[in-house]
Amino acid sequence: MQANKTDTSRRQFVKKSLAAGLAFTIVPSTVVSGLGHVAPSDKLNIVGVGVGGKGMQNLQAMGSENIIGLCDIDWKYSQRCFDAFPRAKKYYDWRVMLDELGSEMDAVVVATADHTHAAIAATAITLDKHVFCQKPLTHSVYESRLLTRLAETRPRIATQMGNQGNSGDGVRQLCEWIWAGEIGEVREAHTWTDRPIWPQGLERPATRMEIPKRFDWELFIGPAPLRPYHEIYTPWNWRGFWDFGTGAFGDMACHVMDPVYRALRLGYPTAISGSSTTANTESAPQAEKVRFDFAARPDYKDVKLPEVEVHWYDGGFLPDRPEGLEPGVPLIRDGLGGCMFVGSRDTLIADCGGFNPRLLSGRVPEVKPYLRRVPGSVDYSDGPHEQDWIRACKESPESRVQPSANFAYAGPFNEMVLLGVLAIRLKGLHKRLLWDGKNMRFTNIGPDETMQVIKHDGFAMVNGIPTWNTERVELNALASAQEYIRHTYRNGWELPPMPG
Ligand SMILES: NC(=O)c1ccc[n+]([C@@H]2O[C@H](COP(=O)([O-])OP(=O)(O)OC[C@H]3O[C@@H](n4cnc5c(N)ncnc54)[C@H](O)[C@@H]3O)[C@@H](O)[C@H]2O)c1
Repeated sequence: MQANKTDTSRRQFVKKSLAAGLAFTIVPSTVVSGLGHVAPSDKLNIVGVGVGGKGMQNLQAMGSENIIGLCDIDWKYSQRCFDAFPRAKKYYDWRVMLDELGSEMDAVVVATADHTHAAIAATAITLDKHVFCQKPLTHSVYESRLLTRLAETRPRIATQMGNQGNSGDGVRQLCEWIWAGEIGEVREAHTWTDRPIWPQGLERPATRMEIPKRFDWELFIGPAPLRPYHEIYTPWNWRGFWDFGTGAFGDMACHVMDPVYRALRLGYPTAISGSSTTANTESAPQAEKVRFDFAARPDYKDVKLPEVEVHWYDGGFLPDRPEGLEPGVPLIRDGLGGCMFVGSRDTLIADCGGFNPRLLSGRVPEVKPYLRRVPGSVDYSDGPHEQDWIRACKESPESRVQPSANFAYAGPFNEMVLLGVLAIRLKGLHKRLLWDGKNMRFTNIGPDETMQVIKHDGFAMVNGIPTWNTERVELNALASAQEYIRHTYRNGWELPPMPG
């Protein structure tokens, strides 16, 4: 039976179950079908949550399997996906879908706005379902840590974050080159994107609009604080709003920084700092620069991994052009972004996701490839990344080769990405922020420190005279940082406990 939007009593039941520690009525498919023992020739039963945009592309790339359930809060925007998979049952509320299809489904694809990834993915993991979750994996550092830990406790499931470049040949090749010492020791790296290509630097709309038909606004809001509906937020534009998205940084860093994180084996940074165009209480700025500092890591293969600073640029900012890059060659060749490793012997540059690595000296290293290649991953396309996850879902847990962006990798990496967002949100402290990654806290923000954040930029020409009437709020910095690291969920929403 398809879920009915007005079926509030059932939703209340599931909501209460969720709040009461995820006491779902369903029998996990591990019990029914023996998770992890799907023959490669058998099809997985997959459900998708958030299917109007990227989720549809992900599911189409999984078209080899049975897509049995589709959930979206906006049935108009999702109609294309409903048409593409007419046999799938349709839902507004993912909790109802997981409840009703729990015994049939093997795997969940999450492609909602960033702020709801964690609740959906965490619930799916606790039900022993394989999870493919879009990037950024989560909206907060704590949520990333939680998904990492939960996945650790469920070795029977296969996980993958949706940064498709991670399955690509390029990132593997550049790792092999760097680990062979081809560019020497790297103490400086740069990463960049031309995003945002959606509105940022916005204030909260002053007007409220009527909620459209075939739409569930409260479910879009999910665990975030309630606010009146306005069409500006969803689809797509939620990216620029702090409560729902993570701005250009969170949107693109999981693609652009992935090669740097992986090749330099980074882990948690020790310090971050950022600057940007105007950032306000509502929305990410139009352009940002962030610096991360990392301590030395243990030598790896033939290379030393000394202290390194990693820089981020978006919204039009770019690193200085390196020596050796020919005039006329753009730093963004693929319309997305790129990365650069400045080594003691050579400089390596690559496109978004690490594709097309090349050395600025023009040398082509003769390093024999040895890392596992995902078939078909020669460019930035959907398909191979999703199919590699499906392969892993079907492999026996005892001998499974996890997909490369599994949560043990993607969780800590995503924590680093989200710290880039925090560098901007806390830029009003005007200092390098020291990060204690293990304990998820800044060590140099005092309990009484405050920061000013713009709420309303009131520049106007009044009777032909420029007039400034900028409204600022003073925030307690430590409380703000703690809230950004671990969000307070709205009443009725909670995450499973952090495994010990
Ligand atoms: N890997 C990539 O190349 C790539 C590209 C685009 C987007 N993404 C990621 O995919 C995710 C979705 O982005 P998008 O561009 O598709 O956004 P979108 O707004 O176009 O689509 C999101 C869909 O999720 C639905 N939705 C929102 N909240 C929901 C909820 N609580 N329950 C059910 N459905 C819900 C929306 O109605 C919409 O249909 C984001 O995390 C984004 O970063 C990844």
